[in-house]
Amino acid sequence: MIVSFYKLKFQTDNLYLHNSIIAIFVLNFFMKIKNICCIGAGYVGGPTMAVIALKCPHIKITVVDINKERIDSWNDSNLEKLPVYEPGLADIVSQTRGKNLFFDVDIDSAIKNSEMIFIAVNTPTKTYGEGKGQAADLKYVEICARKIAEISTSDKIVVEKSTLPVRTAEAVKTILDKTGNGVNFEVLSNPEFLAEGTAINDLFKSDRVLIGGDQTESGMLAINKLVEIYENWIPREKIYTTNVWSSELSKLVANAFLAQRISSINSISALCEVTEADVEEVSKAIGMDSRIGSKFLKSSVGFGGSCFQKDILNLVYIAKSLGLNEVAEYWHQVIKINNYQKIRFAKNIMKSLFNTVSGKKISLLGWAFKKNTNDSRESAAIYIADYLIENGAEIHVYDPKVTYSRMLSDLNDLGTRTTVKNRESLFYHNTPLPACFKSHAIAVLTEWDEFKTYNWEEIFDNSIKPAKLFDGRNILDKKKIEAIGFEVYSIGKS
Ligand code: NAD
Ligand code: UGA
Repeated sequence: MIVSFYKLKFQTDNLYLHNSIIAIFVLNFFMKIKNICCIGAGYVGGPTMAVIALKCPHIKITVVDINKERIDSWNDSNLEKLPVYEPGLADIVSQTRGKNLFFDVDIDSAIKNSEMIFIAVNTPTKTYGEGKGQAADLKYVEICARKIAEISTSDKIVVEKSTLPVRTAEAVKTILDKTGNGVNFEVLSNPEFLAEGTAINDLFKSDRVLIGGDQTESGMLAINKLVEIYENWIPREKIYTTNVWSSELSKLVANAFLAQRISSINSISALCEVTEADVEEVSKAIGMDSRIGSKFLKSSVGFGGSCFQKDILNLVYIAKSLGLNEVAEYWHQVIKINNYQKIRFAKNIMKSLFNTVSGKKISLLGWAFKKNTNDSRESAAIYIADYLIENGAEIHVYDPKVTYSRMLSDLNDLGTRTTVKNRESLFYHNTPLPACFKSHAIAVLTEWDEFKTYNWEEIFDNSIKPAKLFDGRNILDKKKIEAIGFEVYSIGKS
């Protein structure tokens, strides 16, 4: 009797297990992702979706944005006019656009027709109210969540691609569940680690893909769906799945660690300049230690970009809100050193020009926050130009990719002075020689490769003497340039 009971129970359990496996298999098969919507056609949404489209020709991807001008640029037949400049991107867009990659302003239809929705909207630092100047402004993310809830009539996997404070997924899920139409939403965190200028290569060969999700049966199924997409080109061992909170926090921490290395070496650059040590030699010497590693130890005029500062400030805000003041202060120092480095550089220019730049022409080579991008958000150039203009200088800029209107709006956004005054003090050149002609000092602020190949003899001949050159990226051959006659100031060299 007992034996037959166990036999029956075993058969029943087995049958249950068997049916569950079939159910998951069937569910998995029918729920294969065929349509993806990405909300936000910016520096992340555009390149990321272009690469997914290239690697997953079986998936239709629609990238949507409220900014019609941006969408029109993505659809421009002239690939030079894409809103994001990234080496290799235009080629991928030309292969995929109109086949399985679409750019559209019809957000509702794209949401409705997709099984998976990426949120890749901006999450800037708050400029108002509680948390002003530190916390991330999540209003765009919230608008997306409400829109998805309102429009969806079938189950969706919602993927946070934007960089978000830890525990944002909880808020997104609450909005979706409480205001939705009773459909099931799974929220995943899948932060992006690409760097601008190398985005395509980073997406092709990611060090890792991070996916965080609920550790429930439906959460695991959703994670698996996203894993399946990346598996089309990323080896499985590089796809790391975690809980949602670890994933959200890891993104902020990764950026904080990277920026911390730059601030660390930049702080040492100041020390090098007064001790006759050479920061490049110090970088190399410490980077040869495999425990330290050689990457992200390039001393510079200060880090820029839309994310490092914003994400660290957000980390500082979170730590402070949780009463972890020492933690907050520790990370805040990374930003303080970066601000110090930018202004130190500008002050050095002024000091070398006999303590006044009033009425003097200063040439800036480079406005982008790094080479190979047209992005100038938080670029050191903005702060250096601002300081010099405030002290009466005329700023003449050449950058291979950044437009005049962008430069002007960067300066206007700082709010230091009127637009008219900025326009009178900022001069744009679309070739380098006029930008440098008869100037009192030239400063290299972005590490564009072409700067290394200029005819520096000719530039010297046309400079006001003593000719001064400030290499904010240490990309020029100091000895060679000095031999021409320039007085050269390099970061972290006496
Ligand atoms: P971005 O400003 O270039 O693009 C964001 C886009 O979202 C804009 O075009 C904007 O119009 C659109 N948008 C805003 N609200 C919208 C809405 N409600 N509906 C539709 N579209 C909307 O920003 P980005 O640089 O692509 O960054 C996006 C996110 O990715 C941020 O959280 C950022 O921190 C993160 N991130 C950026 C990078 C990077 O290199 N830029 C790298 C990794 C992560
Ligand atoms: C950075 C991270 O590298 C990405 O992993 C991350 O996804 C991204 O932020 C983000 O979240 O937005 P990005 O800002 O595009 O990428 O470019 P980086 O190569 O990190 O450079 C950032 C700034 O640091 C640039 O101004 C660069 O010139 C400067 N930098 C970088 C240095 O001054 N020294 C270095 O050694 C490296």
